[in-house]
Amino acid sequence: MQNGRRKSGPPSRNYVPPVEYPLSKPYRGGLVKNGGLTMKEALRAARIVVVDDSDSIVQLLTEVLALDGYLNVIGVTDPRLAIPTIEESDPDLLILDLHMPQLGGLEIMAEMSRHASPHAPLPILVLTADLSPEIRQRALLGGAKEFLTKPFDSAEALLRVRNLLETRMLHQTLKDENRVLELAVRERTRELEDLRVEILQRLALAAEYRDDATLRHTERVGRTAALLALELGVAPDGDGDLVFRAAQLHDIGKIGIPDAILLKEGHLSPAEFTRMKDHTVIGARILSENRFELLRLAEEIAITHHERWAGGGYPRGLAGPEIPLIGRVVALADVFDALIHKRPYKQAWSLDRALEEIAGERGRQFDPEVVDAFDRIRDEVISLHEVAAL
Ligand SMILES: [Fe+2]
Repeated sequence: MQNGRRKSGPPSRNYVPPVEYPLSKPYRGGLVKNGGLTMKEALRAARIVVVDDSDSIVQLLTEVLALDGYLNVIGVTDPRLAIPTIEESDPDLLILDLHMPQLGGLEIMAEMSRHASPHAPLPILVLTADLSPEIRQRALLGGAKEFLTKPFDSAEALLRVRNLLETRMLHQTLKDENRVLELAVRERTRELEDLRVEILQRLALAAEYRDDATLRHTERVGRTAALLALELGVAPDGDGDLVFRAAQLHDIGKIGIPDAILLKEGHLSPAEFTRMKDHTVIGARILSENRFELLRLAEEIAITHHERWAGGGYPRGLAGPEIPLIGRVVALADVFDALIHKRPYKQAWSLDRALEEIAGERGRQFDPEVVDAFDRIRDEVISLHEVAAL
C-alpha cells in the first residue's frame, strides 16, 4: 500500500481519494475556452472578420475560408463598419486591407489598440498590394502579425490564417488553464484555512471543556457577538459568520492556565488573578502571525476582550476607542453569557439581574454604543440561551 491506497480490493476506511482538478475535464489537447473542443473543432468554430473595400476580394476570401471548413466568417466592405463589427462579433482573427477609402487599415488598427485588452490582443493579418518597408513597419507597430500580398495565393492565405488562429487558440488555452489552476490553488488555500481554524476551534473547545462541560459558552458568545456586530454594521463579511467563528476563539488562551486556577470555586487570589489574565496574551500568541482574516480578527478579540471602556481592564489597560470595536463587542457578549449561566466561580444570575448589570456598566465596563445595540436586539440574544436552564 502506498500513499493510503491499496493495490487491489475495496478502499480501506482511511482511503483518501486522489483530488481531481477540473483541469482534467475540459482539456483534451484543445480548448478550455470552448468547452473541451479539439484544435480542429476550435479552428472551425473560430470567428474571422474580413475587411476590404473590394467586393471581389471579400467574396473570394470568405468562400476560400468556408470551403476549408471555417464556419464563422464575416465579410465587411465598408471600412467604417469594421470597428462596430469587431466589437459585436468578438473575432479570433481580423483580415484587414490597408488601403481603403474613408478609413484605412492603419487607422482601424489605431482605433482598435485604444480599446483592446493587452492580455489577449486580436491577431491581424494584413492584406496589401503595397508592402514597402515603411508600410510594413507601421502595420507591425499597429498590431499586424502577418502579411498577405495582393494578389494572394489561396493556399498561402489559408496557411497564414491557420497559423495565426492556432497561436491564438493555444494562447487562450494557456490563459484558461492558468485560470483553472488559480481557482484550484485558491480552493486549496481556503481548505487549509478551514482546517487551521477547525484545529484552533477544537483547541478552544478543549480549553473550554475544562470549565464548561456543555461546551456551549463559546458558541453562544460567538452568536451574540455576530448579532451585535451585524447590528452595529461592523461585520467584515456582511453576514456575521467571520465574527461568529473568530469570537469563539476568544478564550483559547485558557489552554495555558492551570486547572487549580481555572476551576477554582470562589474568588481568585491576586496572584492567581494575575495568572488568569494571561489567557488573553497566550490566546493572542497562539493566533498571532497569521495571514487569514478570520484568525487576525480572532487575535484582536483574544487580546482585547477583557479591556474596559472606562479603562482599568487587562492586559493593556486600554480605554474608549483605543479598544478595537470587535473587542468591545465580545466583552459584552462574554460577560452577559457568563452572568446568566453557572460558572465554576459563580451561580447563574437571573436574566433581570444580568440585564441590570449590563445597563449599570454602560460607559464603565462597556462601550455605550455596544450596550445600546444590545438593548435593541436583546430579545434575539436572549432567545439564543436556554432560558429554562437559567
Ligand atoms: Fe476571557
